[in-house]
Amino acid sequence: MIRKLSITDIPQVARIHKQELSGFLPELGLQFLENFYKASLDIPEMFTLVEKKNEQILGFVSGIESAKGLYKKVIFKNPIGFAILFLRYFVTHPEKIVKMVKILSYPGFADDSPELLTIAVKKDYQKRGIGKNLFQKTVEEFTKRKIKKFKISVYDKLPANGFYKKIGCKFVNSFEFLGEKMNYYSYEIKILNPKSQVPNKLTPRVIPSTFDELSVNSVEGSLSLSKNDSRIRERSLHALRLVGMTV
Ligand SMILES: CC(C)(COP(=O)(O)OP(=O)(O)OC[C@H]1O[C@@H](n2cnc3c(N)ncnc32)[C@H](O)[C@@H]1OP(=O)(O)O)[C@@H](O)C(=O)NCCC(=O)NCCS
Repeated sequence: MIRKLSITDIPQVARIHKQELSGFLPELGLQFLENFYKASLDIPEMFTLVEKKNEQILGFVSGIESAKGLYKKVIFKNPIGFAILFLRYFVTHPEKIVKMVKILSYPGFADDSPELLTIAVKKDYQKRGIGKNLFQKTVEEFTKRKIKKFKISVYDKLPANGFYKKIGCKFVNSFEFLGEKMNYYSYEIKILNPKSQVPNKLTPRVIPSTFDELSVNSVEGSLSLSKNDSRIRERSLHALRLVGMTV
């Protein structure tokens, strides 16, 4: 069952993030990831959805309406907690300071557009449709937020490129980030309004032209038959019922 992230899910989500995703954030450690997801609960433009079965998280996805300034927003939710984590990390990995500064220059953090930030499914549960379901729920969540298009960036080397292509994301371009090739994809949400599929009862163009025996009053939505041919009459009535007219 897919639902929104709750505070008790966070240790499992952080673990899946660390295990299934490479990159700098997982390198910062589980505590950093836990703080990140905790802070995200207080950022209304960000959401995380989890697939949970018997209290076990099998996968999760995070999205944001605008990634602009995301890390500043996250850090300012718990500045002391993050400062301690960064200090601890940089004391033991001083060479990573430059990398951290470069990460903050990730083009996505200057871009105002909606983005799917992370999706990951536990290794043993991959290729069973969970990723697809999480993606579908992401589409629904963005739709609720009146967003029609969102982007995804992914390292070129990852098999996930195949997943994104399979589920209908369009490749936009590639760019280099920290010496690695990354790909941008875009997903356009096509909303099928069920009402728009039901033709307007008052629209005469839905009437087949061969049924010229019919006269349709488009203002009143009423129908009259000028001939008494029962075959034509039955076919006409059937056609009209199919397009939603009450006859
Ligand atoms: C990418 C990921 C989330 C996909 O989740 P998943 O649950 O394995 O995917 P699904 O089973 O829902 O697959 C949906 C479709 O994509 C296809 N697909 C999945 N992974 C694929 C891959 N690596 N290459 C090509 N197609 C793939 C499936 O065959 C399936 O196709 P179908 O609908 O025709 O059967 C998962 O592999 C993962 O967690 N990877 C590690 C983390 C990662 O790299 N995340 C992306 C970067 S943010």
